[in-house]
Amino acid sequence: MKVFVTRRIDELGVKIMENAGIDVTQWMEKRDLTQSELIEHCKQHNALLSAGANKIDGRFLDECSHLKVIALLSVGFDNVDVAEASRFKIPIGNTPGVLSGATADTAMLLMLATSRKAFYHHRRIINGNWGFFDPMADLGIDLKERTLGIYGLGRVGFEMARRCVGAFNMKVIYCNHHPNEVAEKELNAKPVSFDELLAQSDVLSVHANLTSETKGKFDKRAFTKMKPNSIFVNAARGELHNEQDLTEALSNGAIWGAGLDVTNPEPMLPDNPLLSMPNVCVLPHIGSATLETRIAMTKLAAENIVAGLRDERLPHVVNPEVYDNKQS
Ligand code: DGY
Repeated sequence: MKVFVTRRIDELGVKIMENAGIDVTQWMEKRDLTQSELIEHCKQHNALLSAGANKIDGRFLDECSHLKVIALLSVGFDNVDVAEASRFKIPIGNTPGVLSGATADTAMLLMLATSRKAFYHHRRIINGNWGFFDPMADLGIDLKERTLGIYGLGRVGFEMARRCVGAFNMKVIYCNHHPNEVAEKELNAKPVSFDELLAQSDVLSVHANLTSETKGKFDKRAFTKMKPNSIFVNAARGELHNEQDLTEALSNGAIWGAGLDVTNPEPMLPDNPLLSMPNVCVLPHIGSATLETRIAMTKLAAENIVAGLRDERLPHVVNPEVYDNKQS
């Protein structure tokens, strides 16, 4: 059995798969594979471990319907046409849970950095503009006892809320499809409508999955309803917000600041106007990028590959419907 891995991964993942008798090929070049290259490699393998934003779309699945399993090195699976994968009975694995803390840390970092214009002040030093002390210039805002609004209160959102309650005694409101009873009990989180979330949040932190329903949810209409002194944080997916509308909302004072770990497109171009705004902090999608977290993600992904190649149910499967009418 052979697996194709689209990036260099931690040795532990390679060992887990090799110890299970799987032949591991890693793509070592520091560039993205084209779709055609990916298909050609996958044609010679039985499984794919996909790290990065490779499109696992209808064309890919049509050409690679022989794959016994596709394991993602991510919790998000918006790059996969899951319905098509299920039609071909290919199980898709992801890495839930292990990256929630690290991703919430990144959201927290962005909230804090934005509230104090940290990246802007850093640029002032680099550009020789420290200058003289003006006690009323370029001030930030306090976070203590503010209202944190979470859009998509799942595992990562919960960790973000927990941190904000612990560090700043923030009041938590959230907007979800389903109530999060644990958050309501442990963090006194209150469910609100989307419009109430916009109107009441001092910090609005986005942690939802990217779906056809959530795509572009934070647009001009949404930003206009937010408080003028609010901070928008997105550590989920760049396509959840409309970047042009966000830029306008920041320029015209509809909102106060933004902290982004995700952009649309990625990578963000260096001349993007958001990068020179004092109240904006942007990171290059490093939500889960700690050594411990990446190793834990690699382990889950490798375990998904091993299970899939053994015709066993994946420990973390995105499309359990593939097991309907199938012994596993
Ligand atoms: C995920 O796992 O979905 C994170 O965004 C890391 O890419």
